[in-house]
Amino acid sequence: MSLYEEVNKRRTFAIISHPDAGKTTLTEKLLLYGNLIRSAGTVKGKKSGKFATSDWMELEKQRGISITSSVMNFPYEGYEVNILDTPGHEDFSEDTYRTLTAVDSVVMIIDATKGIEAQTIKLFKVCRMRGIPIFTFINKLDREGKEPFALLEEIEQVLDIATYPMNWPVGMGKRFLGIFDRKNKQFVQFNGNEEETYIPFAELENPAYRELLSQESYQTAAEELSLLDEAGDTFSLDDILAGKQTPVFFGSALAPFGVHTFFNTFISMAPAPTPRKSTNGAISPDNSDFSGFIFKIQANMNPAHRDRVAFLRVCSGKFERGMTVKLSRTDKPIKLSQSQQFVASSRDTVEEAYAGDIIGIYDPNAYRIGDTLIEGKGNFEYDELPQFPPELFKKVTAKNVMKSKQFKKGIEQLVQEGAIQLYKGHRTDANILGAVGELQYEVFQYRMKNEYNAEVMFESIGERIPRWLTIDKIDESLFDERSMLTRDREGNFVVLFKNDFSLRLFKEKHPDIKLVDLLETK
Ligand code: G4P
Repeated sequence: MSLYEEVNKRRTFAIISHPDAGKTTLTEKLLLYGNLIRSAGTVKGKKSGKFATSDWMELEKQRGISITSSVMNFPYEGYEVNILDTPGHEDFSEDTYRTLTAVDSVVMIIDATKGIEAQTIKLFKVCRMRGIPIFTFINKLDREGKEPFALLEEIEQVLDIATYPMNWPVGMGKRFLGIFDRKNKQFVQFNGNEEETYIPFAELENPAYRELLSQESYQTAAEELSLLDEAGDTFSLDDILAGKQTPVFFGSALAPFGVHTFFNTFISMAPAPTPRKSTNGAISPDNSDFSGFIFKIQANMNPAHRDRVAFLRVCSGKFERGMTVKLSRTDKPIKLSQSQQFVASSRDTVEEAYAGDIIGIYDPNAYRIGDTLIEGKGNFEYDELPQFPPELFKKVTAKNVMKSKQFKKGIEQLVQEGAIQLYKGHRTDANILGAVGELQYEVFQYRMKNEYNAEVMFESIGERIPRWLTIDKIDESLFDERSMLTRDREGNFVVLFKNDFSLRLFKEKHPDIKLVDLLETK
């Protein structure tokens, strides 16, 4: 098979949603279709004490949430599917955001009973920023939810994206009869279980379906459908691929209902890997030289091995185990001997991979998040990964001063993973951690103890607004507790403002000092 053909059958995507919208349930169904698991029951039911395949850390199990983003890979109907799991919990948004740089499209799940929720909006914005195509699955149609038109309007208004319903639901909750599949021109009947009956539109006139057709919810939905056909938006694959229109599918992940059709349609419409921006212009995925970038580093994924794994998105060419590549940042060669593909906690050695694939490579403490690896002559780097400013800050110290070596090593590694940010007090040299949310501190504390044998104590500095300074020298007397002066890992000055008020006051007093918001620089 040619490189071009290999690349073109890759579908690499993430599933995003607010917690509880049904991401785990839907993912399981896709894994079932891919024959990756045998029964959904074995991975489902977080609250019932069983855990999803994609939750692999001990802490995740305790909390019933998915902390790290895992990767699932399987062949399906001639395609090679790569699903990147993203944590739905808001505290882990930074990790999630970075994962979104490694995918070519996104499936957004919306709970029909709740509509658009906070976390969906945040994640959607990141996809938007990057122009990623977004496919929408409106879930839980087996429950009484919001009206379909209201849901579409909510998507259009809140997220500011055009919608195109790929199917149209007939009733909901107890009155849920099925969906009109607009693409395949068939009515898909819901039988209250997994079995779906497909009736081509042309056959609906058959007297055998008279009872179905006479139901009130059927008639209402049929009227709505003709309204959509006449006055609704037109379908545009170009707009979908540009992230301007989202195809919307209604269904139930739990039943499951409408999931198989959704997946087949999604996979045929979703984009294969496309060229990626680099310092050397766009790099085509079927360029024969291998290249890729690291979007995540994780230490001790398997405590028995005490290893560090870097997650690499292949962007061009062919990866072969044992190949020697160049680390762009240092211009030094590096051998990729240990490599893995993931099905959550079970890891298979991967011998070869193509653009679109995500592989885990052994990290001999050489990589940083955002690093580019390339084969061949020349040198370039892929676009920098976006960084998201932390909001919550705490001083951290070792409980036992005798353990300062472990403490230092633990902080260094976890910070390098990008799980948490480290700042140094300007004069005091105190270790100040910054994270997007409280849960990241819990994970940090847990991992320091369990993986580095270093118990830590926190002293809260509270919520802060970090602003970067673009100067090397500074008059220290301008800063106080409300505008705490620190340095980041690169040695840049960072001021941690207590609140909006102290930020504004500082700006008024010192209009000549330029304050940079991390988000504005990207
Ligand atoms: P998440 O990963 O997005 O957080 O959501 P998850 O799949 O865990 O689903 C959250 C809850 O919603 C689960 O119920 C799940 O069974 C339920 N659910 C998912 N899809 C559907 C659907 O199509 N219809 C209905 N009625 N429910 C659905 P739970 O009671 O919170 O947990 P569990 O003990 O059943 O796992």
